[in-house]
Amino acid sequence: MVSQPNLARDLQGFALDVSDISATLGAVDWNFSSRKRLSELENIHPYPAKFIPEIPGTLLDILPIPSNTAVLDPFVGSGTTLIECQKRGIRSVGIDLNPIACLISQIKTSPAPRHVEKALKEVLSYAKLMPDIELPDIPNLDHWFKRPISEAVERILSGIEAIRPPSEDLLRLALSSILVRISNQESDTRYAAVVKDVQPSDVYELFASAARKLDRAVQARDYHCTSSIILERDTLSVKPSEIGCPIGAVITSPPYPNAYEYWLYHKYRMWWLGYDPVAVKSKEIGARAHFFKANHHTADHFVEQMRGSFALIADVLVAGGFVCFVVGRSKIHGTIVDNAQIIQDIGHEFDFRTVFRTERMIAASRKTFNLSHANIKTETLLVLSR
Ligand SMILES: C[S@@+](CC[C@H](N)C(=O)[O-])C[C@H]1O[C@@H](n2cnc3c(N)ncnc32)[C@H](O)[C@@H]1O
Repeated sequence: MVSQPNLARDLQGFALDVSDISATLGAVDWNFSSRKRLSELENIHPYPAKFIPEIPGTLLDILPIPSNTAVLDPFVGSGTTLIECQKRGIRSVGIDLNPIACLISQIKTSPAPRHVEKALKEVLSYAKLMPDIELPDIPNLDHWFKRPISEAVERILSGIEAIRPPSEDLLRLALSSILVRISNQESDTRYAAVVKDVQPSDVYELFASAARKLDRAVQARDYHCTSSIILERDTLSVKPSEIGCPIGAVITSPPYPNAYEYWLYHKYRMWWLGYDPVAVKSKEIGARAHFFKANHHTADHFVEQMRGSFALIADVLVAGGFVCFVVGRSKIHGTIVDNAQIIQDIGHEFDFRTVFRTERMIAASRKTFNLSHANIKTETLLVLSR
């Protein structure tokens, strides 16, 4: 982390020259090569292509964000920007289409619910004592989950629903976090069905230990949960009035075209928790599925989607505010596309000016399942202002 945590506050009130900000941003090692392993809070639930907290954290420390404003992340994912805002007492708003992303962000940014252990015990005893249960109608369920495992999952869900403790969402997220592990799916990033030695008793134990881990992580936060609003929406359909407060900075990493499949990563989590992954897929920016079918997407779709995002940003961002994007390149039908350049050009169309642009290495641990198809090793940090 950069060594001046109060720089933004110290600088407020001074007419800051953009070149000073660029120079300060330029002095940072954006690779954060010496970063420690993930904290327990970062680690509560798998999420692909998270950005490391040091990126939003350092931006918040350096940028002189106009006072009395909130920070917006229009592609909030697992909530990294929101948490860094909370650590600094800054209000924030996050938007994501993916209900699992929103659930993770919501749990990470809400005050810790009380009496999780008691609720856990009640849910488990309800689940185990229930008479016969009916499995939900989920496509290909038996291919991905052994029948006794599905029954244990459904029992836990019925227990949570029957008891409805204040920690209901935390318990649902704990269950979501173990679903791939107890399924026949090889791993979070490999969609092959394999034989695993998982018993129903493992489902109850893994669920209990995930719930306790989650409880510990939210209890261990040593800062106040400053207001953080999460909108489960397609960013392109959000109206400025729905943001509800002036925005002083946007800090985000948008979906990369033809790179990740957030909906696919969480497909069975969504089915089990009662959401519709097919609807999420249809609106997901950059999902690889949109690049294979007839009338497939091209880089022009991404241009229009980023224009739509900037239309919202331009409306809610106050004068003197900042827009920060971390974005990689894509390979679309054999051609490498510089997504940062697309975003920078669109920013200029909307009268933003470039304050800073640099390349940073993508940590090997973040190259989850398919960036390798394009041999993409770096991503761009772009900071604009108006
Ligand atoms: C690179 S990830 C963000 C990761 C986040 N920075 C973190 O640390 O977890 C991009 C996010 O954009 C979301 N997304 C894709 N299309 C969207 C859309 N149309 N509206 C809102 N969110 C969308 C995906 O669900 C994904 O969570």
